[in-house]
Amino acid sequence: MSPGRLQRVEVWSPLPGTAQFHFERARLEVSFLADDTVRVSWGPGPEPVPYAIAGDIAGPVPVVQAHPIDVLRADGAWVLRSVALEITVSPDGTLRTARPGGTLLRSESAPARRGAAWEQSFSMRAGERMCGLGEQALAIDRRGATVTLWNTDPGGSWGPGKGPLYLGIPVVVSTHDDGDVLSFYENSTRATFDFGQQPSDAGKSGTATVRFAGGVLRRYLITGDVPHLVDRYTELTGRPALAPRWALGYHQSRWGYRNDADVRAITDGFANLGLPLSAVHLDIDYMRGFRVFTVDPDKFPDLGALTTEVAAVGTRLVTIVDAGVKIDPDYDVFCEGRDQHRFCTDAHGHLAEGVVWPGRSAFPDFTDPGTRSWWAGKYRTLTDAGVAGIWHDMNEPTSIALLGDPTLPISTRHHFDGRGGDHAEGHNLYGLLMNRAGYEGLQRAVPDRRPFIVSRSGWASMQRWAWNWTGDVASTWESMRQQVATVIGLGLSGVPYSGSDIGGFSGIPDDELYLRWLQMSVFMPYCRTHSVRGVPPREPWCFAEPTRQLVAAWIRFRYRLLPYLYTLAHQASETGAPLIRPLWWSGGDSDTDDAFLLGDALLVAPVTEAGGRRPAVPLPSGRWTSIWAGDGDGVGEGDGVGEGNDQVSVLTPLDRIPVLARAGSVIPLDDGWSDRGGLCRLDGDTGRPPLGGPTSDGLSLDHAPRHLAFHCWPDEEGVAAGVCIDDAGDGHGPVRRDTLRFEGAHPGGTATLTWERAGDFAAPIALRVVLHGLSAARAVADGVEVPVSGSVVDVATFSELTLEGLRDVTGFGV
Ligand code: GLC
Repeated sequence: MSPGRLQRVEVWSPLPGTAQFHFERARLEVSFLADDTVRVSWGPGPEPVPYAIAGDIAGPVPVVQAHPIDVLRADGAWVLRSVALEITVSPDGTLRTARPGGTLLRSESAPARRGAAWEQSFSMRAGERMCGLGEQALAIDRRGATVTLWNTDPGGSWGPGKGPLYLGIPVVVSTHDDGDVLSFYENSTRATFDFGQQPSDAGKSGTATVRFAGGVLRRYLITGDVPHLVDRYTELTGRPALAPRWALGYHQSRWGYRNDADVRAITDGFANLGLPLSAVHLDIDYMRGFRVFTVDPDKFPDLGALTTEVAAVGTRLVTIVDAGVKIDPDYDVFCEGRDQHRFCTDAHGHLAEGVVWPGRSAFPDFTDPGTRSWWAGKYRTLTDAGVAGIWHDMNEPTSIALLGDPTLPISTRHHFDGRGGDHAEGHNLYGLLMNRAGYEGLQRAVPDRRPFIVSRSGWASMQRWAWNWTGDVASTWESMRQQVATVIGLGLSGVPYSGSDIGGFSGIPDDELYLRWLQMSVFMPYCRTHSVRGVPPREPWCFAEPTRQLVAAWIRFRYRLLPYLYTLAHQASETGAPLIRPLWWSGGDSDTDDAFLLGDALLVAPVTEAGGRRPAVPLPSGRWTSIWAGDGDGVGEGDGVGEGNDQVSVLTPLDRIPVLARAGSVIPLDDGWSDRGGLCRLDGDTGRPPLGGPTSDGLSLDHAPRHLAFHCWPDEEGVAAGVCIDDAGDGHGPVRRDTLRFEGAHPGGTATLTWERAGDFAAPIALRVVLHGLSAARAVADGVEVPVSGSVVDVATFSELTLEGLRDVTGFGV
């Protein structure tokens, strides 16, 4: 049914910046929340409980103040105009969104309502990319696909083209030369987005259709460039939480670790190889009969002692918590939940039952604030035993089924903070609100630590509570390659932390596939090896040489990257910018689904085919240099250096994948894990090099840089700049923000590196400056000469470092 004709218009109602349009059978409300952010809602229908909107529930939308707009009438239509955006509402309900000059961004049909469902078509511009929508097994650009948003366990193994997956998010980021647009549909009911053409039609204009099963048809529309879109979107839905630094380290997991002896064998094995290990994950077998918030006393007689023991070498335990609670009259969590009415019910008030690992299970109703608080209190069982992180699973929610939709029935009732509703609306919110309860539980249990939760499911705004991993990925090359587009898609949907089971979950990767998957994952936000029950183990020592050595070297390299990753994590919590990004993140046409940017400064091109082949990398603007350009061993066909819009080929022997640095960057790395200069003890040593190094105030902090190094890649102007953000790695204490600027880096010249520090967190005592492409004859830090060896300067904290007698050197890598 169409809205019918426009009958009445109210402006400034109910808020400034708002206009209401009353049609015969529908109501449209247009609210400017900022010059570049507008909320467009079609009713009737139940309003969403604003779970995805940051701030207090039912509180005002926190984006900048409602903004004055001009409202004009032109040719029978109504035009609402801010300085950045112009919305034209026609009397038949079609909407046109344009830039103030008139350049069309989007036109939308009047929506049709069928029962409780909505359907609306909108235009896609020629060459417009349509990205986002959370976790998808599709290309970064979703054009040509039909995407369903209904969080679903795809059944133990997935690869390209499979859907829906565990974590849909109704946010579409579209990019076009005429202007980028973000649309967030605040509607949790089942949705389909039909980008209705062949991918090959993306160059032409077209029409997309979106359908929601119920609710009001509410959309937040944001304009600006892509980084701005994600910034505004995470202002609206909440900034990504900053996790403890250890979460950015390497995690080892396997469905099948049986007991404390297995855990000790892992930490000992890492120590024997001289390898750091940030976390061991305990899958469902640690529990007593898969009952959540229990620990099997036979397998883990003293979990507290075990966590203390492994913490001494810098390793944490992360334990799984599933959504389903075993129905068992002798189990306290179930009895409490039943007696306090914490579980979802059917339409008659009886317990809604499903099947998870323990058999018949009940499902907490996380839309009930009382249930969230009750559940939050349960995490103490684990944190009191020293468990440091939580892994949320089966929270789509999944009820294992051989046939039909593997979740709760649609008629299942939910509380919805008092207003009531059913599973049609509650389903996609389930994981989100479980994550919220878990986060609040960890905050409550251990207030001086930052919560760490990694979750399989969620919804818009989950970045406030949890990281994600991509679930049960098939162990194939195609699935590995898919992870790049999948994780980038999540980042564009506001979820900056994700990664995949290294080697794939459900099969047996050969050594080459495992190693290539690890090399890719070392540059992804979440770096964890995990696998299904029954497949051969994947600890580093399980591989034959040369894989074993290479796996060890790449795990170490993850720790080298930590200062950069942690800087990006701080920035993500300020602006929402994902850690890994499509090559066109800052504009430009360079487009591929099998390479990504890590921050602005690194371009990573994983090898996603057997035999070391990989297509040439299309470079974004700027000049890019292989970071491996090292020690005269050559970097591939050509010199590993390329300019924007070139294709660059880099050699891909088994020990490396192409990684390029953007000229003009200063990148903080932890050279305490470098094999250069004997900083890091290598294989053959016994005992593990300590995780973390001293700071100038004498503290030795877990996962702190052991030897912070500023790596400088000057551009053709001889300039490079970068940022390093550091703190104690956990808790809520002071932060230090370093701004680094390198100037005058020309052969024969004198260059200066200035280091401005802001904030109260102490700087390291000793650090290193590494020049790429240049060597220096003499170095002076704040007036005092310091030792220099070629391209490497070892120095104490400084404000200005002068480098004299600069000479070109080729091929000096990290
Ligand atoms: C699910 C998870 C997987 C886990 C398994 C057992 O399949 O996705 O990671 O190992 O359940 O808990």
